[in-house]
Amino acid sequence: FIPPSSGGGGGGVTAKDALGNDISVSKFLEGKNPGDRALAQGLKGDPTYIVVDTKESVKDYGINAVCTHLGCVVPWNGSENKFMCPCHGSQYDSAGKVVRGPAPRSLALVHAKVEDDKIGLTQWTETDFRTGEEPWWA
Ligand code: FES
Repeated sequence: FIPPSSGGGGGGVTAKDALGNDISVSKFLEGKNPGDRALAQGLKGDPTYIVVDTKESVKDYGINAVCTHLGCVVPWNGSENKFMCPCHGSQYDSAGKVVRGPAPRSLALVHAKVEDDKIGLTQWTETDFRTGEEPWWA
């Protein structure tokens, strides 16, 4: 498996589980529901949320879980439909857009593409669809 490349340098990685093994999308989706978000190891080893779209598919973007305030890993709170940082109370909406500080910026995005039952993650260098702005992380 060769992870797809954005072509803009920086290549890509395959989403990995906590043990460093490639995530199998079919296994990953077992027991999950649309709207769930689950952590994987992504680009540069950063904890990255894979977003469950339907029973059979994941969204074509992943959300970097590193808080833009001081770098805590931000847990997903399904009942609040938000990411809520335990360190200083920042909040992000379901797509990772910041809705409450002190975090200054939204969570970074990556592209997620399923191929051969694996999830290829590549850098997101395009406009941030949540804000219409250039990505601060690229
Ligand atoms: Fe997340 Fe401070 S590190 S709010």
